Amino acid sequence: MAKKTVEDLQVSGKRVFIRVDFNVPLDDQGHITDDTRIRASLPTIKYIIEHGGIPILASHLGRPKGKTDPKLSLMPVAQRLVKLLERKVVFSKDCVGEDAEKLAQNLKPGDVMLLENTRFHEEEKKNDPAFARELASLADLYVNDAFGTAHRAHATVVGVAGHFDTPVCGFLMAKEIEYLDAVITNPQRPLLAIIGGAKVSTKMGVLKNLLPVVDHLAIGGGMSYTFYKARGYSIGNSLCEDEFLEEARTLIDNEKLYVPVDTVVCKEPKTGAVIANVDAAAIPEGYMGVDIGEKARVDIADRMERAQTIVWNGPMGIFEIDEFARGTAAVARAMATATERGATTIAGGGETISALKKFGSIDKISHASTGGGASLEFLEGKTLPGIKALRDKE
Ligand code: 3PG
Repeated sequence: MAKKTVEDLQVSGKRVFIRVDFNVPLDDQGHITDDTRIRASLPTIKYIIEHGGIPILASHLGRPKGKTDPKLSLMPVAQRLVKLLERKVVFSKDCVGEDAEKLAQNLKPGDVMLLENTRFHEEEKKNDPAFARELASLADLYVNDAFGTAHRAHATVVGVAGHFDTPVCGFLMAKEIEYLDAVITNPQRPLLAIIGGAKVSTKMGVLKNLLPVVDHLAIGGGMSYTFYKARGYSIGNSLCEDEFLEEARTLIDNEKLYVPVDTVVCKEPKTGAVIANVDAAAIPEGYMGVDIGEKARVDIADRMERAQTIVWNGPMGIFEIDEFARGTAAVARAMATATERGATTIAGGGETISALKKFGSIDKISHASTGGGASLEFLEGKTLPGIKALRDKE
């Protein structure tokens, strides 16, 4: 899976098209509320500048459906970049067209250019060949550092790459691939996967792909109640996707699979709710499961203590509400402890990253993936088009 990286290119004096994932959250006023993804691509951008290259940055933001939407302009990102890079950033109001071409032609070493949201053109999502050619004509070299978008076969991810002799990874893309690939191909064992989240429909692929390679797989979150029901337990008002009961039944007796033996329940999932800890098979009528239980917390902590590699995707309960956050908090904190004693710990998925931030562990784990959907598809064993488009190391 090793790919060539930006270090394999001679960037000096060259304009380098860098596909970044600057799809950052914005508040109502259009202010960036979390710039992690921008910071995550700085090593690649700085490397190119320091080696005499000229970065031309391209990204999408949100889902504007092929039309210009001022609320989804990358202008705030350009302003943040000016601060982070401590240099001027040329902003092109359109990612293609005469202005973009002229601006690109006039760039000199030391300059950085950011193109406006590529999804303002419907051709981006369609991977339109003419659009890809136009974008590619802006630069001499291609680097993809947008791991978060690697599962999208879009023009800036796939089509543009095809116009260059040696399309390569940026440092972030390379790091993401290295950590996630090692989970599947060469993990330090025991390897433990902890998979949670509300919906089993979004996690079934990853459960099936990981079970053969892991030593233990613990589940939690709303999806566990489909497994409870598959076992024949009453689940009260807990979440359940009946159409996945059959598939859940095929996995449930796998000895590597750990299904929480108890659960926290309440009548209504809201702040201040009265909670109770009950055995998995004893959810009362009218109650719903909202977190893993006390015994399950201990069981999962025990597996985490023994693991040499832990991969975590999906919360253990509705952690946004304090009363239901204990399971997720315990896993988040145990990720930090495991890292400290030398285990490799990897987390992916928007909610998982939020939980790690909330419980103070985000900077204390080996690798927090910047990709939500992309990291999940990677762990499902799918070939991500954005990675496939990049040149392998010889
Ligand atoms: C993400 O936030 O997961 C990526 O930027 C991809 O965005 P998308 O789901 O809108 O394609």
